Amino acid sequence: MKLAFYIIFFCGLSLAVDCSSKSSYVASDSVYPFSLMTLPYDQDFLEPFLSEDIINSHYNHHHQGYVEKLNSFLEENEDLQTLTLAELNQLAASYDSLQKFAGGTYNHNLYWWVLTNPECAKSSPEGDLESKILETWNSVDAFTDSMNEEMSQVFGSGWVWACVNMTGQIEIRSTKNQINPLMQIDSESCYPFLACDIWEHAFYLQYNWDRQEYFDAYFDSIDWETVEFFYESYSSNLISIPF
Ligand SMILES: *[C@@H]1O[C@H](CO)[C@@H](O)[C@H](O)[C@H]1NC(C)=O
Ligand SMILES: [Fe+2]
Repeated sequence: MKLAFYIIFFCGLSLAVDCSSKSSYVASDSVYPFSLMTLPYDQDFLEPFLSEDIINSHYNHHHQGYVEKLNSFLEENEDLQTLTLAELNQLAASYDSLQKFAGGTYNHNLYWWVLTNPECAKSSPEGDLESKILETWNSVDAFTDSMNEEMSQVFGSGWVWACVNMTGQIEIRSTKNQINPLMQIDSESCYPFLACDIWEHAFYLQYNWDRQEYFDAYFDSIDWETVEFFYESYSSNLISIPF
């Protein structure tokens, strides 16, 4: 009887997600040579939202590739070697390689941080971020609906962002390839605190052509506590998050 209880108890425990296993963000002042950020959780932590297979190819192959190509580019450009990743992104309008590789490195850093296991995600943001969202949208649902709408309209590979623009308002933007709103490519810069990767490598192994299913699962897996922290500490002060 007692043994049966312990068996059921421990099996139950092993199925539960350990939400506290996600590491807390620590600001970085890294410069060249950059290394791939440490993933803040185990590679199966985001399941069932994103499978271990997706994380393996997305993080160990794609993200790692951007970091390596960024370092190769910087090796040849000594004048840029003292700049942080955020500073390189802010210079990227003048360098095609920075748009690809400093963007690819920075964008994925933000993406990994803003995700969590769906069982660990609270349903919506609170505090300053919630109040600010309500200044532009009637509800948090209306905000995520407009983000979803922007995501549905991305053609080809790109990203959708929530960022703070130069007037201090929250804006939803999409960008192509690995461009991000810090780069001022086609508009004034905007400081991102939430990102969704809409490249096929982000979802195809698991969701195939059903992008909407990926988007729905994404909204259920946002780590709003971390997003609130990024908004309050950095973006709302027009500071890029130091990754
Ligand atoms: C800033 O964001 C607000 C709210 O999304 C938008 O109405 C406004 O046009 C944006 N301003 C600039 C300068 O981009
Ligand atoms: Fe990606």
